[in-house]
Amino acid sequence: MIGEKKRILSGVRPTGPLHLGHYAGALENWVELQHQYDCTFLIADCQVSDYAHDLPRVRNAVWEVALDWLAVGLDPESSRFVIESRVPEHAELMMWLAWFLPIGMLERNPTLKAEMQAIENPEDATTKGKSIPVAFYIYPVMQVANILLARADVVPVGEDQLPHLELTRETARHFNRNFKPVFPEPQALLGSAPRLVGTDGNAKMSKSRGNTIDLKDSVAMVASKVRRMYGGPPRGAKEPGRVQQNPLFLYLDAFDRDPAQVNNLKERYERTGVSNEELKDRLTAVLYELLEPIRERRAKYESNLSLVREALEHGTERSRAIAQETMEMVRDALDLNYLQRAFETDTKLL
Ligand code: TRP
Repeated sequence: MIGEKKRILSGVRPTGPLHLGHYAGALENWVELQHQYDCTFLIADCQVSDYAHDLPRVRNAVWEVALDWLAVGLDPESSRFVIESRVPEHAELMMWLAWFLPIGMLERNPTLKAEMQAIENPEDATTKGKSIPVAFYIYPVMQVANILLARADVVPVGEDQLPHLELTRETARHFNRNFKPVFPEPQALLGSAPRLVGTDGNAKMSKSRGNTIDLKDSVAMVASKVRRMYGGPPRGAKEPGRVQQNPLFLYLDAFDRDPAQVNNLKERYERTGVSNEELKDRLTAVLYELLEPIRERRAKYESNLSLVREALEHGTERSRAIAQETMEMVRDALDLNYLQRAFETDTKLL
């Protein structure tokens, strides 16, 4: 029930269908958390300035994300699914908070710095020479507004998001100290799963690299992606290898429900060698078990899209009620109702 449980807010940018990296890094955790907390899950459709040239993709991804969320078992009744742009209070709060955000904290933000460098000096020649829009520079500020607007206590995030959370805490402290105590100082909740690498072994799993396994991929698609997965430096089938160097083990660690078996494989792998084919067969089976129930639920919602729409509308509406409550508190704290007050009390204006 709202008001009794601690509040969680987390979110994702709608840039495409969700993949195994999202599942291991966030969704699996969210599904558990939704029972213990009052959860808001945000589709951050204001934070996609890097996809401004491809709006159809972003619009479509809002549906994909909502469908994926329902498919993994997030419950839109006990939690709120919210579309950022449908709650204009985000933009309003962000503007007021911008008064209090030290620009140095953005300049020093290591995640933002790295992302901006990647935009200005991309490996990918097609995006070379791009300039960075202000909206990208201030996306951490949008995130601050997302979190504070929901008056969240806890924010489950990946490690790369920690600088943004520090910015949020700093802003909340400043506001509470200098005006009124409106905002909880949110705590980060780091997932325990290590970051999943791409199927090509690249450190980043991303759609643009084409190295993802998507939650909506068919059985055949998953099997074929696993077959082509990078399995460490070349090695004979009966040659021992190093577990650390083979990302197949990272996947098994993340998704195999039988850790004893995985340990057994690891031990054999280092001692006598295990072929990548055997590892891949196991991973295919493990992913089938994980993804099949997700596919089934997805199919149910796909054949009844009005349920998806309801989840989004209903969640956004309930989030907006909280947002408006927060804005009332902010208006009071910053004395934004000064005009109304002056007229109501008939004070001399000058
Ligand atoms: N920036 C986050 C990401 O890329 C998504 C996000 C937007 C978010 N707003 C948020 C996460 C608020 C946590 C809280 O993953």
